[in-house]
Amino acid sequence: MSDIPEAVLRVRALSRTFHQADVAIHVLRQVDLEIAPGEIVALLGPSGSGKSTLLQAVGLLEGGFEGSIRIACEEAAKLDSAGRTRLRRDRLGFVYQFHHLLPDFTAVENVVLPQLIHGADTAPARERAEGLLSVLGLAQRLGHRPSQLSGGEQQRVAVARALANRPALVLADEPTGNLDEATADIVLAEFLRLVRQEGSAALVATHNERLAARMDRVVRLHEGRLD
Ligand SMILES: Nc1ncnc2c1ncn2[C@@H]1O[C@H](COP(=O)(O)OP(=O)(O)OP(=O)(O)O)[C@@H](O)[C@H]1O
Ligand SMILES: [Mg+2]
Repeated sequence: MSDIPEAVLRVRALSRTFHQADVAIHVLRQVDLEIAPGEIVALLGPSGSGKSTLLQAVGLLEGGFEGSIRIACEEAAKLDSAGRTRLRRDRLGFVYQFHHLLPDFTAVENVVLPQLIHGADTAPARERAEGLLSVLGLAQRLGHRPSQLSGGEQQRVAVARALANRPALVLADEPTGNLDEATADIVLAEFLRLVRQEGSAALVATHNERLAARMDRVVRLHEGRLD
């Protein structure tokens, strides 16, 4: 595999083994992956093939891995827990299958908060949140709480939140897996358009080949290896 010098993500020989009773389950075996700035990559593979495990590793959410993960040229293994938190906060955005929005906050507040945590001032953070939500068709829903939004709308807010801090790389684990097929198509198309517009790269786990074909590249996990 050739080195992309400025890759936003460079994974080398990443392995993850779970030990259950006396059985070792090799979920990831020497996985290599590079993502260039702005590149959108679909991660396919059957259920249980390790897509979420790979995304959790790259998201620096879990230890227990062997190998190298470089995000924006920083080696995660060399960082302590505070350094990993900083790298995650400064470079990564996350979208999950379930939205994980804060239930007591409005749509716009859910997108403002991560920016304030990141050090932004309130007025520009609010302006950016409103801009992102408007692009996603939620201009009339800014003051709604998650429980007052449809599933598709909740997921759009989660997309806006993930992009709020202009991450170099968005990690998405079946971001529309919770929605009916028609809504999933629309929300995923909007997600891809916004990621492109923002210039972020993305790694998107999905079961949907048709949606994967809309991305720049498809990689597949099979028996712990990535082809
Ligand atoms: N904490 C854990 N302990 C033991 N085994 C685990 C653990 N987490 C995941 N596994 C195993 O690792 C394998 C990969 O799981 P993972 O959730 O990454 O798959 P996936 O590709 O995301 O599947 P799905 O498409 O169903 O979401 C599974 O066989 C699972 O049982
Ligand atoms: Mg999964």
